[in-house]
Amino acid sequence: MKKIPFNRPAIVGNEMKYISRALSTAVAHVSGDGVYTRRCEKKLKSELGCRRAFLTTSCTDALEMAALLLNLKPGDEVIVPSFTFVSTANAFALRGARPVFADIRPDTLNIDEEGIERLITKRTKAVVPVHYAGVGCEMDRICQIARKTGIAVVEDNAHGLFAEYRGRKLGTIGDFGTLSFHETKNFICGEGGALLVNNPSFLKRAEIVRDKGTDRARFLRGEVDKYTWVDFGSSFLPSDILAAFLCAQLEKKRMIQGRRKAIWERYMAGLEGWASSAGARLPAVPPHCSQSWHMFYMLMRTPGERRDLIAHLRKRNIHAIFHYVPLHSSKMGKAFGGRKGSCPVAEHASVRLLRLPFYLGISEHEQDRVVAEIRKFRM
Ligand SMILES: Cc1ncc(COP(=O)(O)O)c(C=O)c1O
Repeated sequence: MKKIPFNRPAIVGNEMKYISRALSTAVAHVSGDGVYTRRCEKKLKSELGCRRAFLTTSCTDALEMAALLLNLKPGDEVIVPSFTFVSTANAFALRGARPVFADIRPDTLNIDEEGIERLITKRTKAVVPVHYAGVGCEMDRICQIARKTGIAVVEDNAHGLFAEYRGRKLGTIGDFGTLSFHETKNFICGEGGALLVNNPSFLKRAEIVRDKGTDRARFLRGEVDKYTWVDFGSSFLPSDILAAFLCAQLEKKRMIQGRRKAIWERYMAGLEGWASSAGARLPAVPPHCSQSWHMFYMLMRTPGERRDLIAHLRKRNIHAIFHYVPLHSSKMGKAFGGRKGSCPVAEHASVRLLRLPFYLGISEHEQDRVVAEIRKFRM
């Protein structure tokens, strides 16, 4: 039986052409901030409506940039959902801040907005809503709490490029939004990301922090006659070769999102009936959210069922996989005060959730094989 992997990156159009142009003598610009970097940033800004988009080497780096821009220091606290990737917390912990873990909602698996306020202390500087599976967090409530308490909002939108919450693009609602172009995401360049800056007060420093703490961007615009060290910063700017790759992907937005929507809907149609009789839960998308069609997950009734279904599919060469281990129960999370039992919804979901193979090139026949094998699974 032919393997159906969990993910398979796809080349969708002009990737090779643009990469070779980035390498060619005509353009001769392979470091950062070249033609393709600017083209990607312009496209993200115009399609999303953020103040500015800065390409970065990863979503992790975009989160680290946000942490630097917020001037976080030891003793500060940042509220993050427990059910997320390590970078959501690690980026802030690197600055000495303490991640404070919030539980998630049982329906969307996003941060439980009603649990945020009681975690806020005098030391809280930011909250980081993660739009899990590209379905929006309850941003109205989160921004209301943030405004009331004077904390920043950093949207970790690694999964949700082009998705919307009440008609607003995810990543453009908080002070910052972060994106990922890792090979498992909808739009890829191998490793890559972007920081969306929505709060204009951070714009000036953002280009400095991204460029090793220097004012090189001003120098390149001819605003100063030399550039030097003016602030904290690091090397967050990707090479124009990667931006060329990404540019070709962004150009195919309509095809990529259309295809992913069809894949998601085929899984939903094939599994809905089975799920209700088997007691499994499929993804929930509130009516005021339009999703990014990033992943298809299922929540099984028990951890044992999840384990057995993954093994059943694996025997048939189908690779379904679990997702995050709740951060509050991880080794590092515990060192920051995380306690088992403190985020029960995250703990419950983490041991029951599996993600089905989901990539641009998956055929209808392959999807039907996945669905048929799930339906055959005896619980
Ligand atoms: C929610 C979330 N944030 C951040 C990241 C990190 O993204 P990157 O690999 O681009 O650094 C991931 C990775 O998948 C993620 O799932």
